[in-house]
Amino acid sequence: MKKVTKAAALVLTMAMMVSTLVACGDSADATTDAANTETTASDDAAAETAGTEAEASDTTAMTKTEGVITFGTNAEFPPFEFVASSGVIDQYDGIDMAIAKQIAEENGMTAAVENMEFDSLLIALQNGQIDAAIAGMTVTEERLESVDFSTPYYTATQVMIVKEDSDIASAADMADKKICVVQGYTGEICVKDMGYPYEAFKKGTEAVMELVNGKCDVVVIDSATAQKYISDNEGLKIVEDSAAFESEEYAIAVKKGNTALLDMINKAIEAKLADGTISELGVKYTEETTIE
Ligand code: ARG
Repeated sequence: MKKVTKAAALVLTMAMMVSTLVACGDSADATTDAANTETTASDDAAAETAGTEAEASDTTAMTKTEGVITFGTNAEFPPFEFVASSGVIDQYDGIDMAIAKQIAEENGMTAAVENMEFDSLLIALQNGQIDAAIAGMTVTEERLESVDFSTPYYTATQVMIVKEDSDIASAADMADKKICVVQGYTGEICVKDMGYPYEAFKKGTEAVMELVNGKCDVVVIDSATAQKYISDNEGLKIVEDSAAFESEEYAIAVKKGNTALLDMINKAIEAKLADGTISELGVKYTEETTIE
């Protein structure tokens, strides 16, 4: 079993490398299938247990605390999650936080947030510290090996933030430049796959400060967050390169096999995509950031 899993993981990793060489971040569609067929015996058992318990006693089995969905996030990623003086869930605000609150409340539950480093989210899911991770998280093959993802709710792409007078016009122009990324984000994976040296920071704001202070030439980060940073800081612009950075999809992650919670989340996400709630939230939080 272990050998098979390892081999499958290797194949997936290789597949990811190939796809990211051609089109960085373009991983969601192709990978969902691969991951679904990769279900192991223990996953099946876990799924069955979760399903049975959920049928027997409704929402009790799917979360660590009855009646509460504990969402993990990294509130350093506007407009999806950020700390505000008064947010939708405690001090946490943003598109993801609004979605999380609605999912919980529509199912007669409450939403709690645990704010942590982005890198810690998948581990926190696996060890049961959180029930779901909502963090503008891109579905990737590597992440699908350790968690299950919901129906995607947002499409994004990596972009380059540069100074207004920069001569960087495409990803290839980063070749001899100092590149900054955020540790563990898909932007880091893209730059790594392109083979360029880079410096990784803990937070997007730190990478952008480095750019503002002239200590780096370009920050590679997700599009909507980049938009927020250029509206907050004068003298910056966004450069897109859709050939180098293709689309990524954000989804909510749950522990592998927690099908009861995943089904509930999927139903809510699908309804919110269909009735326009998610695009309204997108507009709301994007306009708020522009007005500021
Ligand atoms: N979409 C990117 C990724 O999945 C960045 C997400 C960062 N999210 C956050 N809440 N800090 O890697």
